[in-house]
Amino acid sequence: MATHSYSILPSSSSSSIHGQNHQRLNFSSYIAKRVLPAKVSFHSRRNYHLNVVLMQDVIAGAVATPATPVENETPFKKLRDGFLSSVPSTQEFKEAASFDVSKDESTVSITVVGASGDLAKKKIFPALFALYYEGCLPKHFTIFGYARSKMTDAELRNMVSKTLACRIDKRENCGEKIDQFLKRCFYHSGQYDSQENFAELDKKLKEHEGGRVSNRLFYLSIPPNIFIDAVKCTSSSASSGIGWTRVIVEKPFGRDSDSSAALTKALKQYLEEDQIFRIDHYLGKELVENLSVLRFSNLIFEPLWSRQYIRNVQLIFSEDFGTEGRGGYFDNYGILRDIMQNHLLQILALFAMETPVSLDAEDIRNEKVKVLRSMRPLQLEDVVVGQYKSHTKGGVTYPAYIDDNTVPKGSLTPTFAAAALFIDNARWDGVPFLMKAGKALHKKRAEIRVQFRHVPGNLYNQNFETDLDQATNELIIRVQPDEAIDLKINNKVPGLGMRLDHSNLNLHYAARYSKEIPDAYERLLLDAIEGERRLFIRSDELDAAWALFTPVLKELEEKNIIPEYYPYGSRGPVGAHYLAARYNVRWGDLGI
Ligand code: BG6
Repeated sequence: MATHSYSILPSSSSSSIHGQNHQRLNFSSYIAKRVLPAKVSFHSRRNYHLNVVLMQDVIAGAVATPATPVENETPFKKLRDGFLSSVPSTQEFKEAASFDVSKDESTVSITVVGASGDLAKKKIFPALFALYYEGCLPKHFTIFGYARSKMTDAELRNMVSKTLACRIDKRENCGEKIDQFLKRCFYHSGQYDSQENFAELDKKLKEHEGGRVSNRLFYLSIPPNIFIDAVKCTSSSASSGIGWTRVIVEKPFGRDSDSSAALTKALKQYLEEDQIFRIDHYLGKELVENLSVLRFSNLIFEPLWSRQYIRNVQLIFSEDFGTEGRGGYFDNYGILRDIMQNHLLQILALFAMETPVSLDAEDIRNEKVKVLRSMRPLQLEDVVVGQYKSHTKGGVTYPAYIDDNTVPKGSLTPTFAAAALFIDNARWDGVPFLMKAGKALHKKRAEIRVQFRHVPGNLYNQNFETDLDQATNELIIRVQPDEAIDLKINNKVPGLGMRLDHSNLNLHYAARYSKEIPDAYERLLLDAIEGERRLFIRSDELDAAWALFTPVLKELEEKNIIPEYYPYGSRGPVGAHYLAARYNVRWGDLGI
């Protein structure tokens, strides 16, 4: 087992470990959040004993640095490991020094509730395997699938093995790793509302935990109508006695403010807020994570991040396929609830928040809540809704939304929406934040576009061949596919004349970084295991998000607003352009 010692050095030491830049963590908060819970919990993040050397004379301004490099620390862990800084109290040193945080003492049991569902097969098991392959799971871990269908362990393994065609399946020793991983996967069949079945699960978990400190993570990959029953059974019959118990819940977190509040209230009957990990997988996407880095660690962006320089911000999500088979779920929610109120709004909050006090989860989430609460509830006149209709192209006929036989006939549920939102605070007053989300459009993409204002009194106005609006700077953060950051600038076309064009400064991830980008679920699962809550939604964030969308959702439904029909595979309803034009905006994804 690798060990790692800390000694306390004066604060002038550089903030990097093994030559890499690391996030600085406040030592007291590190102790409180990571080390103290480690007494009763698993801690993969720091693969070493914490051997704090007390040096009273350097306590003021002390910085802890690793004295011994970690032999088998994975690159992933190295990247994620923070750095300890600031002034800890003597008591904290004593507490930190008084126990061993060897991960051999504890174990993590991950139970995927709803193991035979699509999400489990497509995302959760592959993500767990990728974490295992990368050495990010602790030495002692067990994975349990739990669902109603009868299945043996061997059948579960067979099912899981078919889905492990993940991003690393071509890598070295993958077959061997899959075999080892599958040996750690088990199955228990039970009802979601049966205390007795969960008690049986508990018994099996205990057998695998072998008397170690047991930490338990439950991933609820089940329909919302059975959330509460499953949480109740988990908490009363299968939670850990001496370790932590955490529950990951997937959206939908209700359908509006009232149902969301009722869900939160019911969950809190059985769990503390810090046990609930509300997942929004867009927060686990690499470029969404990078948003704060881009903004807060580059001098050239943050000073421009306000109404003074930014003309509008666009958050665009499009898929080139319809609801195919998911119509039953989708029809009850529609695109505003499925994508905008969560994925796009979360990106907006991260984009627009004020600088947090630190990178601590609570500091970040406080700022997100503040910005959400400064927003104007969405107005009906600022929303355009659409629904895709059948379209024939190249001899192939693509179905309409209502052709999906899981969708009720005559459904008016929007599969497309465009919206204009506003943040009434000093930084963003008057800046339109435009959102556009749709299914069955011509392209699959998710991006953030920031359009900057005109250069005042631009000397080169005469030299642009296009109109001035198209010659303003634009920052494009392409979340997917082909992750990239592009900055559009005006540039002189080489030659003897003076002609300007609009060119891109590009950072294309595939060209720049050889390492593959982890799936969002990998990052989020690892964070949940490690108790890192930064990328999960707190209940007050959720309330604020629903408060913005609930009135308009009600109005759309009560007034039976008919969506604008757009052909499958098109660019969506033309109403989206009129909406943008009302705010003097041109959608950036349409090109010139
Ligand atoms: C889910 C939505 O949250 O996100 C789906 O329910 C959507 O409708 C999916 O297809 C998109 O996720 P990704 O990661 O494929 O962009």
